[in-house]
Order: sequence, then C-alpha cells, then structure tokens
Amino acid sequence: MRRIGLLGGSFNPIHRGHLSLAACVYHELQLERLLLIPSAQPPHKQGSRELAPAEDRLEMARLAARPFAWLEVCDLELHRPGRSYTVDTVLQLRESFPDARLLLVVGGDWWQGMRGWNRAELLFSLIELVCVNRPGFTGPLPELPTRVHAVSMRPDPISSTQIREHLRANRDISGLVPEPVETYIRARQLYAIRSLPMASVMAVTDLKEADGQEVTVRGWLYNKRSKGKLVFLLVRDGSGIVQVVFFKKNVPAEVFEAAKGVAQENSLTVRGRVKVDERAPGGVELDGLGLEIHQQGPEYPISKQAHGADFLLSHRHLWLRSKLQHATLRIRDRVKRAIVDFLAERGFVNIDAPIFTPNACEGTSTLFEVDYFEDQKAYLTQSGQLYMEAAAMAFGKVYCFGPAFRAEKSKTRKHLTEFWMVEPEVAYIDFDGIVQLIEDFVHAIIRALLDDCSSELQTLERDPELLRNYLEPFARMTYREAAAVLSEKSETFSVGQDFGAPDEQVLGDLHGKPVFITHWPKDIKAFYMKKDPSNLDLVLGVDLIAPEGYGELVGGGQREDDLERLEQGIAQHDLPAEAFRWYTDLRTYGSVPHGGFGLGLERTVAWLCGRPHVRECIPFPRSLNRIYP
Ligand code: 4AD
Ligand code: MG
Repeated sequence: MRRIGLLGGSFNPIHRGHLSLAACVYHELQLERLLLIPSAQPPHKQGSRELAPAEDRLEMARLAARPFAWLEVCDLELHRPGRSYTVDTVLQLRESFPDARLLLVVGGDWWQGMRGWNRAELLFSLIELVCVNRPGFTGPLPELPTRVHAVSMRPDPISSTQIREHLRANRDISGLVPEPVETYIRARQLYAIRSLPMASVMAVTDLKEADGQEVTVRGWLYNKRSKGKLVFLLVRDGSGIVQVVFFKKNVPAEVFEAAKGVAQENSLTVRGRVKVDERAPGGVELDGLGLEIHQQGPEYPISKQAHGADFLLSHRHLWLRSKLQHATLRIRDRVKRAIVDFLAERGFVNIDAPIFTPNACEGTSTLFEVDYFEDQKAYLTQSGQLYMEAAAMAFGKVYCFGPAFRAEKSKTRKHLTEFWMVEPEVAYIDFDGIVQLIEDFVHAIIRALLDDCSSELQTLERDPELLRNYLEPFARMTYREAAAVLSEKSETFSVGQDFGAPDEQVLGDLHGKPVFITHWPKDIKAFYMKKDPSNLDLVLGVDLIAPEGYGELVGGGQREDDLERLEQGIAQHDLPAEAFRWYTDLRTYGSVPHGGFGLGLERTVAWLCGRPHVRECIPFPRSLNRIYP
C-alpha cells in the first residue's frame, strides 16, 4: 500500500532544516510522497511581524517544494484558523487518499502529549505516527494505539526564529533557506526587514538588460504622481530616469505610504522588478517592491515652474540635477571623449600647458593678472598654444586640453571668463592641412554624438538629422569674400574689422552649415600668425563659424616660422620681447612650418546641444559678474 507522509508546521519561513527532515523521512520510510501542511494564522497572531501571513508561508513552502517531485504542499489547514493539525484535516486527507497509509511526522517529543488531544483516538485510527529524533527527542518510542515509526537523523540546528533574527539584523540568510524563498521574503519584505538587500544594484541605463529581474536602484526622486492605488515615482540615479510603479496591493502598507510621502530630490533606494515596455519613458519601468528613504529635507528650491536665469545660476549646484542641464553636461563629457579619442587615433601626444604664464598670447586687453611672489606678475593663461608650439617641435603632433581665462567684460551668450579649449598643434603642416584637420575633427565629434547621445539629444529636442547634415564638407570663404557679403547684409560691419555677433550670424546662416573664414587682415589677428606670402597684409588664419548664430567655434592657422617677421610682430603688438625669448628660440633652433587651432568646448557644446547660452555648457560657469557657486 502506498505511503503518504504528512509534515505540518508554521513554516515561518520554511528552511533547509525542514527540507532535510522531509527528505530523510521520505527515503527511510519509502514514501510515495510527502505533504507539507502549513498551519493557519491564529487570530491572535494576525498582523504580527513574527508570523508571516498564511498565504505567504504557503507560497514559500511551494517555492521550496518545487524542485522535488515527491514533495507537495497542502493548503487544507489554512482554512481552519486557530487550530493546527486538526483531525478534520486528516479526515479530509483520508477521504482523498482512501487506499493510502497516512504517516504523520512529529518531531521532538511532543507526541507525548498527543494522547490528551481532542479526538486523539479518532486521529490515531486515521494515521500512523513517525517520530523523528530532532533536538529534544529522547526515546523510547511511545505506546500509542497506532503504528509508530522511528526515524533518526542528524539534527540541523537551524530554526525559523533564527532566520527571522538574521533578517531583521540584515544578515545573510543564503544557504539557510532555498534561494527562491529568500527572494520571496525580500520581495514581500516579510518579518519587518528594514534594510534593502544589496542584491544587484543597477544603473538606470542598464535596466533594459535585466528584464524580469529584481533590482535595486539608488538615487533621488525626480518627480512623483499618484492615482488611487498607484504611485508613480520618477527616480533618477545620475545615469538616467526610470519610472517606478508602486501598486498598493503589491507592497506592504508602510512601503506604499512611504512612496506617497517621498518628495522631490529626496534621496532613496528602490527595489523593483524590471519590465521592458516600449511605451514607458526610456523603454523600461520598475514594478516597485521596496523603498528606503535616506534623507528627506525641506522643500527643494528648484520646482517645476519656470525660474529666472539668475536664480538658477545661483543654484547651479542643484540645477545640475535638472534634465536639460544633465543632458547637456553628458554631451559635454562625450564631446571631450570624442576629442581625446580622435587625437589619440591620429597620433597626437597630450601635453599639458601651464596655467600661470609670464606673457599674453591673445591680446593684452583680456589678461587676468595675479600677484606672483616678490612683486612679480603672472597671468592666467589665455591659451596654451605657444607652449604647444614648443611641444610640437619635440613630439611632432601634440595637443593641450584645459581651461583658458579671458577677462572678457562682455556679457554675451558666447563669452565666459573661464572656458575650456582643446589646442592641437602640428609640425610640418601647411594651411590647407590645418583647415582639413579642423573639419575632420569637428565631424568626428558630431559622429560620436549621433552614435552615442541620441537620448540626450532627444531630451534637448535637438534634431539629429540637422546635425547629420553638418557632416558634409564645410563651406569656405576668404575674409574678403565674407566682407563683401557683409557689406551688403550687415549694418554694423565695416571692411577691415573683426566680425561682430550679428555678422557671424549672417555668415553662419549663409550656407546652412559651418563656414571657414580664411586669409584675414593682419591687423585684427594675433602676433604669431604667418603672413600670407602672396599678400603680406593678410595672415594665414582661419576661423570656423557655426550656423544658427553660435558664432566662432575655432580659431587657428599657420604660425609665423620666420624669426625676423615674428620679432617684428611682437614689437608691432607692443609685447615685451624679453617675455617671449623662449618662444622666439623655437625659430632659432630648427624652425619648421607648423600650425594648429583652438576649439572652444562650451561654444561647441552649446551649438551641438542647441542651448542658447555657453554658461549652461560648463558645470560651474564664471563670467563678468558671477563666481558663485
Ligand atoms: O580664437 P581664439 O582666441 O584662439 C586662440 O586662443 C588660439 N591661441 C588657439 C590656437 O590656435 N591654438 O580662441 C579659440 C576658441 C574660440 O574660437 C572660441 O570657441 C573659444 O576658444 N573662446 C571662448 N569661449 C568662451 N568664452 C570665451 N571668452 C572665449 N574666447 C575664446
Ligand atoms: Mg578667435
């Protein structure tokens, strides 16, 4: 006759000890199967954090039993609140299995009291008893009016109480309960677990790869919306923003309340199951399971309503968290990487230029002067170019990439007092080579954005197709040609002058793409520019002017490599010859044709992002009247 084992208990939670007991009995007594029978929820323990709800204990038992074909879970007890192991349950099983022997497993020595049970005689007529020498068991086998089996096994000292203690103390329980049971406990936050598990902290941008998995995201609340039994949290973690949906019936009441109470920019950790869904913003969302708030603080100063530019700039340390600012600075990061990658691929060596310099490079009117020991003066660098010329004679192809300083008294949307510039410099290059290098360089930057920054461009509502059009060869004009156009189209321009902002707007819009302006009058360009051999009033300088009113992105050209002409230039610009001695040395010892350019990072980023002002394109802008924060 087939034998069916019955193992009752609260299984709060089921653990490794229960399973090894079941396995031992199953093998020793050659059972056909064994039924785990979770007990009901006694009314006095309802809502207790010690005893998980009966449904949860049942589900955990099911999860634990799943791998074993012979192990099943019986839910008959659940419907008999208040009493465990009732005779009624056994009676019902007797009916379900009329031709089987039912073997009721009891541990320890509590069978000794069974005689006194309600309807004990009836019970003993329905089952046989299996006594297991779990801790506390001391023979001999009882004299009972039923068949009694003895099973001995090495006791496993683990208990449910101990597991609950571990959980509350945030200690590891892996190995003590089957893995799916642990996952279930954590997902449902049973036994008043306060801290969230360390399991799989993920960046929002990687979530798509974890469809169906349970993950933890650590970040800040970007925005919140609620609707009846649902709370939608937009959580940002620095890499991106994900919507976390808390459904009242899926989470403990405390978690739902916490989700309702969390406010903008509170720091928090959420746990949830990843759901890839093309309709969700970013293509993925989380089904919220747990929430831990790290810090709440007072109301966040930057709200969704519009703020003035001055307010935002004074809160730049917080403004960085806003969507557009975040996207812009991510693009800045990508542009910097594209710059470094392009130059490294072409064999350029990165050489750092000094910040303190003894002389001007780009005109004395925009120099920042600083006191430099014993009455000496130093200047914050306007450009690393002169040092790059020295380095190019040593390394061939070099660049520096860092901050430059200009005491610009203008409050335009294109000027900062501290900005970043990349300055490549090449030995043995001619003017056309320089112009071509600039074009390749800017194209490489655009391509990197098109490849890697589509979500940022989308956030900024910057049309990638427009940027793609700029991958065509840029337009080219001489200063003379440009001046002829401006003489007709600009009211402010006069021939021989540098271009003003409206002039640059006209020139940029002329071709619908960036335009190179070459061959400039020598008087409006820097002292180091090489004279055009075919017209000594011109220099071989080049500016790249962006379309859409973003102005000059790049300035550069061929350098004067003739010692005599260079010394003349220094004198004509009223510069102190002594301070440039080291620089003129470069024309004394092995002078070669060379050139390079400087690209302004913030103007380039402003243009590519379509942002109106360069101050949004650097993390902490410095300008005429701002040095805070
Ligand atoms: O045209 P600039 O002054 O050229 C130089 O400094 C050369 N020494 C570069 C070289 O050939 N190595 O500046 C180069 C670029 C400009 O085209 C512009 O993009 C940016 O630097 N720039 C500024 N950006 C923001 N704020 C300012 N005040 C800037 N001044 C120049
Ligand atoms: Mg310039």
